[in-house]
Amino acid sequence: MFLAMSAPKAENLTWHIGEVDKDVRASAYGHRGAVLWFTGLSGSGKSTIGHRVERMLVERGAFAYVLDGDNIRHGLNSDLGFAPEERAENIRRIGEVARLFADAGGLVLSAFISPYRKDRDRVRGLMGPGEFVEVFVDTPLEICEARDPKGLYKKARAGEISSFTGLDAPYEAPASPEVHLETEHLSVDEAAGLVVRYLDEQHILGES
Ligand code: ADX
Repeated sequence: MFLAMSAPKAENLTWHIGEVDKDVRASAYGHRGAVLWFTGLSGSGKSTIGHRVERMLVERGAFAYVLDGDNIRHGLNSDLGFAPEERAENIRRIGEVARLFADAGGLVLSAFISPYRKDRDRVRGLMGPGEFVEVFVDTPLEICEARDPKGLYKKARAGEISSFTGLDAPYEAPASPEVHLETEHLSVDEAAGLVVRYLDEQHILGES
């Protein structure tokens, strides 16, 4: 159904290497480029925590930007629904966009359910060592459903939405995420602070 899962269709392509490499960008911007890949159930807090991290980073002078599930589905991925192959394509395209941002020297924060481990690992495989930071926003289904910020769990329970993640569609939790946020026990600031601390510890921030 979807193309480009492997080699390009076009022939006679040449990869052009520019004059500015990652180290030059890192010293210009004061940090390295990386992808912070938030994953978790709908309503788990991915966007909320991601936006708080974004603000903390930008206030420190970093080039950081959130790619958000619902927003991207209005534009770039407006042709995609929620069947497994459509979710795979959603994540593949976002992964490519995230890679470009990180290659440009940015800290890109992606906030998508990304329920399939294989799809997330494929994005990890696009990135260099240490450039993919998987952030598991671990909020139990009961809490997401009780919050139900968009009223979607209610609709799904009423049979108005099918294949809803956590109910009648799977969520495969990360086996060994770089950052594991058990949000039941954390405020938004605390959760965001743990992500920033990880970036500091890994010398992704403050590199010059
Ligand atoms: S993903 O599974 O392909 O990664 P994505 O993060 O882009 O999903 O979009 C999830 C958002 O779409 C949810 O937060 C919710 O607002 C909305 N949504 C609509 N239908 C579904 C569904 N069947 N399952 C999950 N989320 C849905």
